[in-house]
Amino acid sequence: MYNRMRRPRRNRKSAAIRAMVEETTLSVNDFIFPLFLIEGTALKEEVPSMPGIYRYTLDLMLEEIQECMDLGIKGFCVFPSLDEDKKDKYATEGYNKNGLYIQALKKIKSKFPNIALMTDIAMDPYSSDGHDGIVENGEILNDETLEVLGKMALVQAEAGADILGPSDMMDGRVGYIRNVLDEAGYTKVSIMSYTAKYASAFYGPFRDALDSAPKFGDKKTYQMNPANVSEALIEADLDIQEGADMLMVKPALAYLDIIKLLKDNYDVPITAYNVSGEYAMLKAAAEKGWLDGEKVMIESLLSIKRAGADIILTYFAKEAARILKNKI
Ligand code: PBG
Repeated sequence: MYNRMRRPRRNRKSAAIRAMVEETTLSVNDFIFPLFLIEGTALKEEVPSMPGIYRYTLDLMLEEIQECMDLGIKGFCVFPSLDEDKKDKYATEGYNKNGLYIQALKKIKSKFPNIALMTDIAMDPYSSDGHDGIVENGEILNDETLEVLGKMALVQAEAGADILGPSDMMDGRVGYIRNVLDEAGYTKVSIMSYTAKYASAFYGPFRDALDSAPKFGDKKTYQMNPANVSEALIEADLDIQEGADMLMVKPALAYLDIIKLLKDNYDVPITAYNVSGEYAMLKAAAEKGWLDGEKVMIESLLSIKRAGADIILTYFAKEAARILKNKI
């Protein structure tokens, strides 16, 4: 019979055919845009290690959200950056109803009721030790920390948050928070768990933005070892049993195998956090003219999606949304 050569290039021969057979599509619906909040009014400060990313006072953050919504972005995750004198050992500012963060969440949600408003649950922005848990004699206390996280969850839910994001990596926190929420009647508030959060050096620029670097040691007794895979399945099993609605892998680009692993094994939506260092890396190379910034941005986001992420937290959200909008 015939010995025909298989020619996969036929499916790549024109832009129209390539578009037709494209397996992964990036959409503005996939994005959650992280935003940094500071105290005051009419201030917008660029984060030096994250060109194009700013810390906003609430008034300007509201304008920024409006601009992003005009580009089709619907998901926002707000992180607070506090002055040192607001921080203490127990992160009490983290559950201060009248504090910067909770007041801002309230205003954001009342001005933009249709957005998906995500929060951060962890002690580090409010902790004088710069850790995600209560520190005693150089150790991070697990169960005592849960109580603080529960209090944060309650005030955030009350402020109108749609999705709570525990980013602390304490054991049992998803179940603890779910209970606190349900007992208070917040059964509709979702939990997106930072399930496989690795002890990564790619968080450096974020810690600059929030001034939240640990004052001593590192986060290796609670965040995962970058060498581990199976452990991500243990964390995911626990988070599902404890009631997480969505799972997250963080960082994204160096951990695409973990994204795929969770996507293949769980039915809930999988999120990837394309973290600050991943953003900084591409921006730095683009500034030097070593890479085409727009192209590597889209390629990176597409790769995260192809690996299995349904949702991507990314500092590129606004820039990528602009490009996706112009494409159509
Ligand atoms: C801490 C937290 C971190 C990030 C989100 N929440 C940093 C850390 O664990 O030290 C990092 C996000 C990024 O790098 O973009 N609760």
